Amino acid sequence: FKLTTVEEFEAATEKLLETGKKVGADAWQYRAAKQTPHCKFGEQGVCCRICAMGPCRITPKAPRGICGCDVHGIVGRNYLKFTAGGAATHSDHGREICHTLYCAKPEGPYKVKDPEKLIRIAKEWGVETEGKDIYDLAHEMAYLGMSEYGKVFGTQNFLKRAPQHTQEIWEREEIAPRAIDREVSCSLHMSHMGCSSLPEALIRQSLRAGLSDGWGGSMAGTEFSDVLFGTPKPIETEANLGVMVAENVNIVVHGHDPSLSEMICEYADDPEMIAYAKEMGAKGITVSGVCCTSNEVAMRRGIPMAGNFLQQENVVLTGACEAIVVDVQCIFPALGPLSKCFHTKFVTTSPIAQMPDAEYIRFNAETAGENAKAIVKMAIENFKNRKPELVHIPDMKQKATVGYSVEAIVKTLDGVANSQVDEMGTTKPLLECITSGVIRGAVAMVGCNNPKVRPDTAHIELMKKMIANDIIIIASGCSAQAAARAGLMDKEAKELCGAGLKRVCELADIPPVLHMGSCVDISRMMILAAELAKDSGLNISQLPVVGCAPEWMSEKAVSIGNYVVATGIDTFLGVDPYVSGSDQIAQLLTEGVRDWVEAAYTVEKDIDKLGDAMIARIEEKRTALGI
Ligand code: SF4
Ligand code: FE2
Repeated sequence: FKLTTVEEFEAATEKLLETGKKVGADAWQYRAAKQTPHCKFGEQGVCCRICAMGPCRITPKAPRGICGCDVHGIVGRNYLKFTAGGAATHSDHGREICHTLYCAKPEGPYKVKDPEKLIRIAKEWGVETEGKDIYDLAHEMAYLGMSEYGKVFGTQNFLKRAPQHTQEIWEREEIAPRAIDREVSCSLHMSHMGCSSLPEALIRQSLRAGLSDGWGGSMAGTEFSDVLFGTPKPIETEANLGVMVAENVNIVVHGHDPSLSEMICEYADDPEMIAYAKEMGAKGITVSGVCCTSNEVAMRRGIPMAGNFLQQENVVLTGACEAIVVDVQCIFPALGPLSKCFHTKFVTTSPIAQMPDAEYIRFNAETAGENAKAIVKMAIENFKNRKPELVHIPDMKQKATVGYSVEAIVKTLDGVANSQVDEMGTTKPLLECITSGVIRGAVAMVGCNNPKVRPDTAHIELMKKMIANDIIIIASGCSAQAAARAGLMDKEAKELCGAGLKRVCELADIPPVLHMGSCVDISRMMILAAELAKDSGLNISQLPVVGCAPEWMSEKAVSIGNYVVATGIDTFLGVDPYVSGSDQIAQLLTEGVRDWVEAAYTVEKDIDKLGDAMIARIEEKRTALGI
């Protein structure tokens, strides 16, 4: 067993960039070079352009904006707006999923694949399920789910899943999220010119808006996706660019919303379509993925993962991509012009993510089947337009076992449980491993890539360091894909673990890095933390568990960070969220919020030090518990 190294990733990318040069293609590597050094004011968060008296930027000579706002107000407002952008984005994805569920029909393209889970959530929400048709129940729950976005009174339904102690903190600190749309609007209101400039108020609302995402919109996205498409179970797949097949029609799905990618996979598997691909000279059809939409179909169908965020251009640069089909979020507008240098069709499908130089095939829940069929057909018919001299697929891929939803983890844990003493169907066997010290703790590795960090290095190096120290990893998003591409989701990666974790991997038959899904699925991690706390009788903040986003880049990531911290989990970042310009905001985020929610941020750009800090925090928590 051998990991694929970052050097090997980079050599493959170099070769693809050479193909790009032949056809005059641009790439993020060149654009990043042209954009550095970045604007210092922007980097520190001290530039304000929220009213037309400005823009104002704070310097020692000009310590206040024209309105008199100081640097702390400006940095804090920018941070809150950034959070609101992320919370809105995840949550709107969740709303789309609710809408898809609302359109589910027994004979339509979308069905209820996990009725048990639907009934479980309905009972949680106090909805009568007895004797109800499952589709009637689905529509009722979808309607209620959508109502969570605009509910007039009260807070998010899912908050009740948190331990009592956590719920009390949220109430006490006035950060229990109300209607999701209200928290986003309220954030924009508070950060409007002439509203809040008090750091505490701005950061408090940042936590609340984050919570409306993690325990509101994202959780709806995850839970109702499971209802529609099935709750993930362990499944074998492969990762890295070598999953694309030169002889086949290659369709790459990219984005976040599984409603589209599920349908594409469905039709790419259709015998009629495969026969058509053969007629057009291909051997078959390969669907692979990029970013979270890839995580979604990998977790449920074993569809291979071609790459993560900063690999999206590489997929086209292989010259073997007939169509890159995107839904929403994290899609480079660069894909338009890039695809024009090749035969690739760049297909946008959502009114929310429209881009120049794309073919727009509007995707609707009602007409999803026809839309998906048209897209698959378009890709097949494009096979003949390939330029064989440009085709080069790097010969690198790794095996991965993915699909670790909370339900799947609990089930897997039953495998290590001692049925004489342990309660089955709970997180107790995992707690037992942690208490006895066989596993020291857990790190939730999440988030994107960012050219500011050597891509994937931080993810991979940190994971290697953690597992060597008997710390188990749960991963999602592009972090999970980095792990899979390196080989860390191969069960053989147990060889890289400390003796304790290695033993657990053997007993439970799991890889040391567990793929929990997409970025909205960080809500799964919140549920897991809540279950661990309830099963152990501890507060979430006492568990030897931390979160880490070493290469993050998007607004969504900041929203996530805020809800993870607000849930009581210390969070470690490798990239600064544009707050270095205000010592007061930086102090609040890294220390002050601990008084409110029992957790805080650590920002450390040196990856090795970041890893040491996480291990130290986990050991501190163990010492405090006397374990
Ligand atoms: Fe300048 Fe104040 Fe307007 Fe911001 S809100 S641009 S600091 S005047
Ligand atoms: Fe994502």
